Amino acid sequence: MNFEILIELTYLASAVLFVVGLKRLQSPATARGGNALAALAMLVAIVATLIDTEILSWTGILVGMAIGGAIGGFAAYRVKMTDMPQLVGIFNGFGGAASALVAVVEFVSNPSIGMGATGVTIMLGTLIGAVTLSGSFIAFAKLQEIMTGNPITFPGQNWVNLGLFFGVLFLGAASLGVGGLALSPLSLFYLFVGGALILGVLIVIPIGGADMPVVISLLNSYSGLAASAAGFVIGNMVLIISGALVGAAGLILTQLMCKGMNRSLANVAFGGFGGGAGVDRALIGKRPVKSADAEGVAAELGYVNSVVIVPGYGLAVAQAQHELRKIGDLLEARGVDVKYAIHPVAGRMPGHMNVLLAEADVSYDKLYDLEEINDDLSKTDAVLIVGANDVVNPSARDPRSIIAGMPILDVDRARRVIVMKRSLSPGFAGIDNDLFYMDHTLMFFGDAKESMSDLVREVRDLA
Ligand code: TAP
Repeated sequence: MNFEILIELTYLASAVLFVVGLKRLQSPATARGGNALAALAMLVAIVATLIDTEILSWTGILVGMAIGGAIGGFAAYRVKMTDMPQLVGIFNGFGGAASALVAVVEFVSNPSIGMGATGVTIMLGTLIGAVTLSGSFIAFAKLQEIMTGNPITFPGQNWVNLGLFFGVLFLGAASLGVGGLALSPLSLFYLFVGGALILGVLIVIPIGGADMPVVISLLNSYSGLAASAAGFVIGNMVLIISGALVGAAGLILTQLMCKGMNRSLANVAFGGFGGGAGVDRALIGKRPVKSADAEGVAAELGYVNSVVIVPGYGLAVAQAQHELRKIGDLLEARGVDVKYAIHPVAGRMPGHMNVLLAEADVSYDKLYDLEEINDDLSKTDAVLIVGANDVVNPSARDPRSIIAGMPILDVDRARRVIVMKRSLSPGFAGIDNDLFYMDHTLMFFGDAKESMSDLVREVRDLA
């Protein structure tokens, strides 16, 4: 078989592995295998590219792979689950930078390329890659609290951004000889790159830290598009396909997240949401509540027929998933029917709760999505909410609320509600939660890990 055909077939095999890997990410049961398949696909693609291409410096490539692999491995090993969105954000930024650099090198090596399919693709790859790079770093800085997580806005901001966007497009076209400007194509191109980097910053700063996971997912999609454009520029089929897959997957994920919060992408991008904007924080947590200690909560949960557990962001912060699972097991051993209700945007990234509960070996068949469990909640004896807040906030049913229309778990319809958190502080959306003050709600105050350990002891001690 001809060598070129063999390489193309290897690329095809790699693309198929990517698709199957992505498909397997759909369920927690197959996700680990899916991830491994996609990593294998990447390895196959890299090896085929190395064999296919005339390599200038093997030493350079090997040193690059060793340094990159070590940084990636160290970061993935050390990063906390709650900091995963930041890590993904930074990886997206580097992905965008790599694609932009491919396009930049192509242009710099031939600045007189002029208007044509390759020239336009170079500009697109550079623009999307550069916006992804600077935008991702701002998203990282907001989530890591290196800079304020609040929306940074100024009058006429959207018009400034729009003007800059068209200015950058014009500079890209001018670099390809359109408009007959006096500057050299290279000078115009550098202005174009600078403008694109500034655009990335300006697009992300008005978005509240609260919406950063959505932005990161969107930038992930952009990094895929930039890679695809880079694939067109250098004529690499597997880069085109894998970039398109990342672009599509990122966009679908972005849409799912927006749906989970009942917000449009435009509202996320231009809404300046988050940090409780427009909410009087002085009024939060000022109403009386009923509370119980671990002994009281054990008595509420240990003698009923059905309990639904609702995990949220606080569970991830406290890393209390193993203790939570022990409680589930102990209650089941007492004959209680235990289910776990998973809200699509509980936590800070898609699938956050699934990953946590999988870590604690909670069986997948006990996890129920919002649509599957909501009708059952009115027939449930007790709901135990662990570190969740916005996803169970009944004010989402109030059209005046800033989370109006967000799908919520209807936990207030259960006979008894127990809320486990440290205080009456608000969650991600920055608003009070009427659930805490309802007659049938008991607050179980404390850090989730410590409280869950106490609860395990008390449930064990029940008669
Ligand atoms: P949140 O509404 O953010 O509430 C989490 C609660 O956990 C807080 O109120 C906090 O209360 C409590 N907590 C923090 N540390 C704790 C600890 N160590 N022990 C016990 N409790 C602790 O979480 P949620 O209900 O999971 O909702 C997620 C929010 O994130 C939604 O608003 C959603 O729209 C947003 N969001 C999610 C995503 C994805 S994809 N998941 C993406 C973008 C936005 P205390 O301080 O009183 O303890």
